[in-house]
Amino acid sequence: MTSLPIAPAEQIAPGAVKAVQVRLGPLPAVIGPAQEMGPAGTTAIVVAHTADDQWYAIGDVCSHGPVLLSEGEFEGCTLECWGHGSRFDLSTGLPQNLPANQGVPTYPVSVENGQVVIDLPAVDPPDTPDATKAGDAPETFSNMDDAAPHPDQGGATPSPSGGDKQQEEPV
Ligand code: FES
Repeated sequence: MTSLPIAPAEQIAPGAVKAVQVRLGPLPAVIGPAQEMGPAGTTAIVVAHTADDQWYAIGDVCSHGPVLLSEGEFEGCTLECWGHGSRFDLSTGLPQNLPANQGVPTYPVSVENGQVVIDLPAVDPPDTPDATKAGDAPETFSNMDDAAPHPDQGGATPSPSGGDKQQEEPV
C-alpha cells in the first residue's frame, strides 16, 4: 500500500466530494481533476465526506459507462450515476441497482494531520503491461445504446470529453 494525500480535510465539507485523477505506480500523485478516460497509468478517484462525518474513496468512473460518479447525486452513503441511474455504495463500491452490475474499486481513506489520505495498492511501474490493473475502471463499456440524457447535455450520449470535440482530419 502507498499513502497519497488528496486534499486538506477542511476543503471537503460534510456532504461534499472531491474527484481527482491519480497517477499510479511507485510515485503516485494527484495530477488534476478526475477524467472519464484519463491517461494510461492513471485512475479517477472520488473522495466522499458523508453528512455523518464518514470518509470514503472509490473509483470515480461508473462500471457501466464512461461517466464520473462524482457528477451524480451524493446521498447518504451512495453516489448515483447520472448516466442510467445505478447507485453505488461508497462502503463497498457495489451498485445497488441495474444497469451497472459490477463494482468500482474502493480505497482505504483516513484523515491524518488535517489531510485526507488514501491508500493505493502497490502496482508495477507504469511502463509495464500490468501497471494499470490496480484501481482502474473496466476498459470497455457495453450497453450504452440506451444512454439516458444528462440534464446538462440536452440528450447527448455520455462521452469521454463532453461530446463536443471533433476529430481533425490528418493533413
Ligand atoms: S449506470 Fe453509469 S453509465 Fe450507465
